[in-house]
Amino acid sequence: MSKIYPDSGVEVQGLVARHYDLIMNVMSLGLYPKFIRSTVAKMGIQPKDCILDLGCGTGRNTRLMHQHLNGDGHILGLDISPIMEKQYKKNCRDLPNVKFRHQRADVPFSLDTPYDKAWMSFVLHGFPHEVRSQIIKNIYNNLKPGGILCILDFAEFSLAKMPIGYRLPFKAIECKYAFDFIERDWKNILGTHGFEEFEEHFWFKNYVRLLLAKKK
Ligand SMILES: C[S@@+](CC[C@H](N)C(=O)[O-])C[C@H]1O[C@@H](n2cnc3c(N)ncnc32)[C@H](O)[C@@H]1O
Repeated sequence: MSKIYPDSGVEVQGLVARHYDLIMNVMSLGLYPKFIRSTVAKMGIQPKDCILDLGCGTGRNTRLMHQHLNGDGHILGLDISPIMEKQYKKNCRDLPNVKFRHQRADVPFSLDTPYDKAWMSFVLHGFPHEVRSQIIKNIYNNLKPGGILCILDFAEFSLAKMPIGYRLPFKAIECKYAFDFIERDWKNILGTHGFEEFEEHFWFKNYVRLLLAKKK
């Protein structure tokens, strides 16, 4: 399958997509499961929440979110990768109120009901900046007033000031779109898209951030 954005590193394919969770576990030296659980715990999920998981991948995060719901809440995972779709459906097959939809996050779309929360982990950095704006507009349009956007991704930092021991692997592994993502003021950008009341949590020496933003 050819990529929509050839320089994107988030359009994971082939073996990387097939073994995505394992790769994340190994690359984080086994820290990933505990890390991702602690990020989901900061979302402030209410038992009846309707949650959108954009670029949902294998369903690992959906499973964690689902633990915070009761029978009334539900989760919709959106992704474009057939390999991820297969894993998501398999990993979430025992979860009531979880659905998958093959849907590009970067083209306008409208869902049947508005959502309480929209979660996007390690997706937004992997697009050209104008495409990121479209994704944020899509999320805004599908959230309830007062709904929360949760972006788990790289934090804001200067690549030039990053210690060389981190900078070289970051530059080697990450797609080029990530390099401008980290230099931008995301609270300001989200503010121009109609979000406010920001909350931040940091991990991995402050290089990874969960940014929560409320739709006005
Ligand atoms: C780096 S992975 C992260 C997966 C998951 N969010 C996680 O944290 O485990 C990026 C995901 O975004 C999906 N993706 C890439 N481009 C997309 C697009 N335009 N629309 C929807 N999903 C997309 C990929 O298929 C992949 O599952």
